[in-house]
Amino acid sequence: MAANTIYTRICTLHFTGPVMNSACPWATDEKDLNALYNSPYTGGVTTRTATEYGFKEDTTIHQHAFTPIASLNNYGYSPYPLSRYLIWIRSLLQNSTSPKPIIISITSSRPSELAYMINSIQLLRRELGDPSAPNSRIGIELNTSCPNIADKPPPSYDARTLLFLLHPLVEAVRKDPTLTVGIKLPPYVIPSQFTDVLNAIQSLQTEGEEQNPIAFLTCTNTLGGCLITADEVGMKRIEGKEWALAGGYGGMGGSALHAASLGNVHRFSNLIDNHPSLPMRQIAIIGVGGVSDSAGVKRMQAAGATMVECATALGRFGVEVFEKMQV
Ligand SMILES: Cc1cc2nc3c(=O)[nH]c(=O)nc-3n(C[C@H](O)[C@H](O)[C@H](O)COP(=O)(O)O)c2cc1C
Repeated sequence: MAANTIYTRICTLHFTGPVMNSACPWATDEKDLNALYNSPYTGGVTTRTATEYGFKEDTTIHQHAFTPIASLNNYGYSPYPLSRYLIWIRSLLQNSTSPKPIIISITSSRPSELAYMINSIQLLRRELGDPSAPNSRIGIELNTSCPNIADKPPPSYDARTLLFLLHPLVEAVRKDPTLTVGIKLPPYVIPSQFTDVLNAIQSLQTEGEEQNPIAFLTCTNTLGGCLITADEVGMKRIEGKEWALAGGYGGMGGSALHAASLGNVHRFSNLIDNHPSLPMRQIAIIGVGGVSDSAGVKRMQAAGATMVECATALGRFGVEVFEKMQV
């Protein structure tokens, strides 16, 4: 697909192909982001989740491992603060004429801090002329589903806590409707979890609005609380080192997660397509979980995904994996 051809849109974001990366450590620094952006096979790029001040990463604690069918990680967020991503993205987009968008993944447990972060993204969008352009080259994804933060359970497992965090996003979109925002959700397993989230999102709408302020749902993040033994990842079992990751538990991605992610995409997509509220029916789904080839992309699309992403396959095979994922 030519670099400037539009494949699909989610609100103001115009993607140049059907596949892209999801937030992960292989989208951490300027080199990663440039490689992902310059690949002719990515239709967009997502950054690793950034916080206002950067996450204190400790390589003796925060790790990942691969088995033939899964990845397991116990990372927090990017060690780089949001301000660093904004410098890299400014330079990348100033030197490109492609409409390919960059979705900046951010998180915070404090609405006031989130509002501040969104404002600094908006300053960059204005500087780049994004709000007055026919398409926006920067979107925002709020990560509400990292399972690895000990003292902060993912807000997306509790609809009321989630709602509390969505208000700064909604305010920003109301002030500037050219801003496209979405939320990263965890793998849900029972029907009421899906309807609770959708009810919370619907409650953000006001009378007469044609589009819900939340433009997309990214489904799914990793499944938390998983355990993989050192043997399974080919590590020699030594005394006190029986698990693949320091501390044992982590979030699982890769093929082993695929059926759950596909189920989440399908269920959300069905509920949204048949929703009685028109603004709710405009919400797009980005499918992610266990996709590494074109067959996986087609399954996600059949389940209702507008765009399809991967993290584990990117970590395992590098940026070249997006060529194998073309449909
Ligand atoms: C090592 C690793 C780190 C991740 N870090 C993030 C992150 O910072 N933010 C986020 O929203 N998701 C993160 N994820 C989740 C992925 O974006 C993705 O949702 C999940 O892994 C399922 O996709 P996959 O099967 O293609 O890996 C991470 C996944 C992996 C494997």
